[in-house]
Amino acid sequence: MRTKVAIIGAGPAGLLLARMLSLRGIDCVLLENKSPDYVLSRIRAGLLEQGTVDTLREVGCAARLDQEAMIHDGTFLNFDGEGLRIDFHDLVGKRVTIYGQTEVTRDLMDANAKGGVQSLYEAEVTRIEDLDGTRAKLTYTHRGETKTLEADWVAGCDGYHGISRASIPVSVLKTFERVYPFGWLGILSDVPPCSHELIYANHRDGFALATMRSPTRTRAYIQVPTSDRVEDWPDDKFWDEYKRRLGPTAAAKVITGPSIEKSIAPLRSFVAEPMRYGRLFLAGDAAHIVPPTGAKGLNLAVADVRRLTVGLEQFYKSGATSGLDAYPAKALARVWNAVRFSWWMTRLLHQFPEDQFEKAIQRAEFAHLKSSQTAQKLLAENYVGLPFDA
Ligand code: APR
Ligand code: PHB
Repeated sequence: MRTKVAIIGAGPAGLLLARMLSLRGIDCVLLENKSPDYVLSRIRAGLLEQGTVDTLREVGCAARLDQEAMIHDGTFLNFDGEGLRIDFHDLVGKRVTIYGQTEVTRDLMDANAKGGVQSLYEAEVTRIEDLDGTRAKLTYTHRGETKTLEADWVAGCDGYHGISRASIPVSVLKTFERVYPFGWLGILSDVPPCSHELIYANHRDGFALATMRSPTRTRAYIQVPTSDRVEDWPDDKFWDEYKRRLGPTAAAKVITGPSIEKSIAPLRSFVAEPMRYGRLFLAGDAAHIVPPTGAKGLNLAVADVRRLTVGLEQFYKSGATSGLDAYPAKALARVWNAVRFSWWMTRLLHQFPEDQFEKAIQRAEFAHLKSSQTAQKLLAENYVGLPFDA
């Protein structure tokens, strides 16, 4: 089989790229290791920047979003019981959109199915070769058979554990990493949210986040040691701890219910450079991971894919490679800023065990935020997201 662009991975990055290329008439094949049901069962953050919403509208995948999404003007920060509201709209004239990543994934999958995008699920790419030749060659297994796919370009949208990044020679690849000494225990429950906007709470016993998927579905998180297991946290114990950390005002409004999903996610910042090796381009989690504080993961992936699409479109229209050549540096500039911001928010809001210095810095940072519109503006500007195509 032959194609112009081989896309590895049907997470948000790969699905969106397939959609954007197919709308431009650029032939592509999407290869995904798992089944569509498995991909749709992964629960992740649900906060979209304006650039992501605009992109989904542009590709005709926002009909449900426009009906169902919730728009937030601001957010609450809570520090040792003291509250502060950051009004994004007043400060920087922008808002954020609450719409689950699972729904984004479903909308993109449906559009690709309707648009006739060639998608192979349960197809695992096992080898990527000839990235420095005239054509790349992929080996994959599908329904017990081993097959090959040749492509002009390979889009590595296969997430943190994928094969793409691992196909870049170690002498070329440079990685940067920060692993945080805690994780987020998250639950999903069909109860109304306790607040109309998100609450990020830094409590002496750890971070908590009150967020939502809809007016009837709550998403709730608490910071836990990485050694904790889901079984250590029956629903009642979770809700008690969550309420304590949010503080009495929010706790009074928390309606509890059985969890329909419960999981623990480790927190990590990670960047791989360069985001290109020969005919391979990395996009999304394959190239970078951010901790969920600030919900930048999906939004970064969308920005990468937009930029990569511009380069590919230019190449197939005129043969020019300047857009593709510019991709790694331009994408990385945006990535590093989001890595910086989510690292900063993570440090501001979590308990770092036995680190009195961190605690004192957090207190100073929060006091500064409370007293300075400039500091609030900086937070707001980054939280709502920097321009996608700058
Ligand atoms: N062959 C085929 N598919 C693969 C392979 C492989 N060898 N390795 C991994 N994959 C698939 C995974 O099964 C997964 O469905 O690649 C996909 C990568 O999807 P995500 O992990 O969702 O990565 P990405 O699309 O970059 O995510 C962007 O959305 O899911 C979130 O946390 C993610 O916030 C980030 C954003
Ligand atoms: C979520 O809704 O899951 C969410 C929202 C904001 C975050 C992280 C997660 O910062």
